[in-house]
Amino acid sequence: MKEWAEEAPVIIEAGEGCHLIDTKGRRYLDGVSSLWVNIHGHRKKEIDEAIKAQIDRISHTTLLGLGSVPSIQLAERLARLMDRSFAGRGKACHAPAKVFYSDNGSTAVEVALKMAFQYWRHKGVAGKDRFVSLNNAYHGDTLGAVSVGGVDIFHAAFGPLLFRTFRAPSPYCYRCGLGREFPGCGLACLGSLEEILETRHEEIAAMIVEPLVQAAGGMIVFPPGYLKGARELCRRYNVLFIADEVATGFGRTGRMFACEHESVVPDIICLSKGITGGYLPLAVTIATAEVYNAFLGEFSELKTFFHGHSYTGNPLGCAAALACLDVFEKEGTLERLKPKIGLLEDRLAELSRLPHVGDVRSKGLMAGIELVRDKESKTPYAWEEKMGWRVCCRLREKGILLRPLGNVIVIMPPLAISEEELEGMMDAVKEAIKEAA
Ligand SMILES: Cc1ncc(COP(=O)(O)O)c(C=O)c1O
Repeated sequence: MKEWAEEAPVIIEAGEGCHLIDTKGRRYLDGVSSLWVNIHGHRKKEIDEAIKAQIDRISHTTLLGLGSVPSIQLAERLARLMDRSFAGRGKACHAPAKVFYSDNGSTAVEVALKMAFQYWRHKGVAGKDRFVSLNNAYHGDTLGAVSVGGVDIFHAAFGPLLFRTFRAPSPYCYRCGLGREFPGCGLACLGSLEEILETRHEEIAAMIVEPLVQAAGGMIVFPPGYLKGARELCRRYNVLFIADEVATGFGRTGRMFACEHESVVPDIICLSKGITGGYLPLAVTIATAEVYNAFLGEFSELKTFFHGHSYTGNPLGCAAALACLDVFEKEGTLERLKPKIGLLEDRLAELSRLPHVGDVRSKGLMAGIELVRDKESKTPYAWEEKMGWRVCCRLREKGILLRPLGNVIVIMPPLAISEEELEGMMDAVKEAIKEAA
């Protein structure tokens, strides 16, 4: 805070497409989608109009004991989307389809954890009180989410406040010792996970995972097969599988949801960030009918799921989300991503040849560039050197806003970015790395 207060502030006043404009009239490319939320660009006409139209009806009404029109329409739409993404056409739907609203990614995760915990109570299974999560996981900043988190720099300070969680290794191939070239690379990590599940499954309610990309942990991309393997292990050991798609959902990885890449169907899925196109805080935790049904009972049985926030399922957010999904369909957003993903991959491959770039990794339009002091030995820059930050400061001077995670430069532009804008951003990233590192 001290250093930040000493810097010249950038105060954003307006936005236009993939650009932000500050109070001095300077334009910046929004290279991290305003913290991974923006999908179709800023001031997208269809979303602006949907929110304005909803304001003319009502801006907020509670979902505690009442319904609201846009929240019902959105839940129905999301259930259909789940069916399309996870169940396949014509097959019986065992996909998550019961929508529970909240208002940000962390609360979506809190809801999932409490729901999984209480599910087993309602099923009459005692002792399943704990969770498995991965090292380098990030699931939000509220205490339940921090308890299942695994990024020491964010989480270690709060240790005494947290509940105990089983930690499985992160499939971080670049730093795991075996290396991606090792044929059983992903499987080695699965072996450690299986050991935990085999010996402790009677104590474990659920596993929570960021599918395919551990985002805030440093854009760590799973080796193929890991996600599917983890899901299968959870099924085998009778442990619920929670997919935290807060960062990966809504097209970021090139598919609507990251789980789709490996045909993984979670028991519970958490969504937020891109759900409103990056306009308003809204989140959902979607559970299967199996989980939902466990909460049905007579009043006296007290099977109620006690969790609610004042702005749960806010109608403006729901209206924005419906408009956001309309734009996905109308503009073929996912189909139009393919050449951009190819372009990003090519440009990352080029960057990987720079002397201080240790690793590049990406899935869809999510990418990380890991900077190292010594490429051969993979020696990182000391975190106090703020190398990621220094590169991003250079980028700011070039009109690009990016935010690093330690030594990892994060690239996560709005899905609406043009190929030209993407090229320009990657040119600037290359220059900035050369200058700073
Ligand atoms: C995977 C994941 N889960 C949860 C969260 C928390 O979301 P929020 O910041 O909306 O609370 C984040 C935020 O970055 C995230 O990346």
